[in-house]
Amino acid sequence: MKNQIITQLTSVVENRETNDTVINLPEDSPFDAEQRQWLNGLLTGISTIAAAANAGPEEAAPATPLKVYYGSQSGNCEVLSKDLKKFSATQGFEAELAELDTITPADLAAHQHVLIICSTFGEGEPPDNAKNFYTALMASDAAPLPATLNFGVCGLGDSSYTHFNKAGEDIYSRLVELGATPCHEWISCDVSFEDDYAAWKEAVFKSEVFVNAAGASSSAASADPDEYEPKYTKNNPFIGNLIHVETLSGPDSAKCVNHIEISLAGGGEDVDYHVGDALGVWPLNCAKEVNEILKAGSFTGKEIVEQKTGSASLRVLLQNKLDIHTVNAKCLETWGLSEAPDDYQVVDVLRELKPELDAQMFVDGLRALQPRLYSIASSPKKHPGEVHLTVGEVHYYLFDKERKGVASTWLGDRLSAGSNIGVYIQSSAHFHITGNDDAPVIMIGPGTGIAPFR
Ligand SMILES: Cc1cc2nc3c(=O)[nH]c(=O)nc-3n(C[C@H](O)[C@H](O)[C@H](O)COP(=O)(O)OP(=O)(O)OC[C@H]3O[C@@H](n4cnc5c(N)ncnc54)[C@H](O)[C@@H]3O)c2cc1C
Ligand SMILES: Cc1cc2nc3c(=O)[nH]c(=O)nc-3n(C[C@H](O)[C@H](O)[C@H](O)COP(=O)(O)O)c2cc1C
Repeated sequence: MKNQIITQLTSVVENRETNDTVINLPEDSPFDAEQRQWLNGLLTGISTIAAAANAGPEEAAPATPLKVYYGSQSGNCEVLSKDLKKFSATQGFEAELAELDTITPADLAAHQHVLIICSTFGEGEPPDNAKNFYTALMASDAAPLPATLNFGVCGLGDSSYTHFNKAGEDIYSRLVELGATPCHEWISCDVSFEDDYAAWKEAVFKSEVFVNAAGASSSAASADPDEYEPKYTKNNPFIGNLIHVETLSGPDSAKCVNHIEISLAGGGEDVDYHVGDALGVWPLNCAKEVNEILKAGSFTGKEIVEQKTGSASLRVLLQNKLDIHTVNAKCLETWGLSEAPDDYQVVDVLRELKPELDAQMFVDGLRALQPRLYSIASSPKKHPGEVHLTVGEVHYYLFDKERKGVASTWLGDRLSAGSNIGVYIQSSAHFHITGNDDAPVIMIGPGTGIAPFR
């Protein structure tokens, strides 16, 4: 009897449909209904566990290919592209990153998901590493693109320029014109681009076409061993110290040019640089100008105002955090003004147009203060642990009032030896001296004209 039961159970389990883990003993098996039900449950449980143990690892759906192209002159778009690549891995995409000039517009036709981040330089021009792509895209004979090309564009610019974000906008409009499908409206980011970029990034990966195409996601992009991630960046600067300032120009010179030495002691290899790189410098505004603005707006400076980062007194914010010169469309709108004469700066608006503003409204209209870039004028081989700059002070007259640049005069005039300076290395890989000693080199000195030749 015992053997008969075992034989029957074995035959039921062996003869079940392949992959079927549910077991039903036949009604003629030597059990009553209640026993059969109990045994069916037991055997189904055992066979399910066994099937799971025997199965190989589940094959994950592959991540969907994504192309991320960037055009970047001073590195911001390149940094954002790397972030986009990492983020895309968490959303089911495997991104490949490249400069825009590595492709032609026709190459885009082969792809289904393309994201472009591009800044605007010069007077509304694309950055150097996007010029060929841009020119070919704008050409009247550019080939049509398929609607299967789903794309997004994020533009980085500066609203104080006449052609604000022209390159990004042109690229977006032309891709639409040629037949490609935008997955999201293009985004036009100003100098404080972080929040707008983050919102665009979220929106792109939430768009229907990206959600439907997403494959398996990973928690992070696999680390590229060749990719160097600097510790000190625009948003996490190294705190260096001013060593020394020496004026290079003569007393009768029309321009004041200063040689500036900054100590990078303690930064170690996280502040290593190459000849050809630039140094990002976070300046502070001039206290005298802050006083003029407070007076012009009838503020005391003690008013407490809210910012995303917390609250602070108006004076502290004007001194350390806000662009106290630039007037753009956003600030006029915030201040309830329809227009202002060209070249008006913040102090002119307050003095001449006298908008009715409380301190919070005033601050809400101002842009965040930005770092300035300076070509590095030293070699780490000759001056380890230091970085030297050659900075021309910016002074000019507007509406019969003397004006000055924020950073160039802060470095040259208002900082004393030993003062802290927030800095970061802005790598310019395309500007490094070639390793090929036979290659001809043409050196051109714009700006102060001498920084790269020291
Ligand atoms: C990659 C790179 C490398 C650079 N390297 C160097 C370098 O080695 N040395 C160097 O000196 N600079 C260099 N610069 C320029 C530098 O970054 C700053 O732009 C410059 O020092 C002015 O900054 P600032 O804060 O003093 O002036 P800001 O406060 O930025 O004021 C400049 C602004 O003032 C206004 N302005 C200036 N003159 C007039 C005028 N006549 N009429 C009306 N408005 C006017 C304009 O709006 C102008 O944009 C470099 C820039 C880049 C992008
Ligand atoms: C010399 C110079 C010219 C610029 N010209 C423009 C311009 O015409 N329009 C604009 O919107 N932004 C302009 N910008 C601002 C840059 O686009 C902005 O700083 C952007 O964040 C740079 O991104 P990138 O570092 O990726 O090149 C200019 C900046 C510099 C330094």
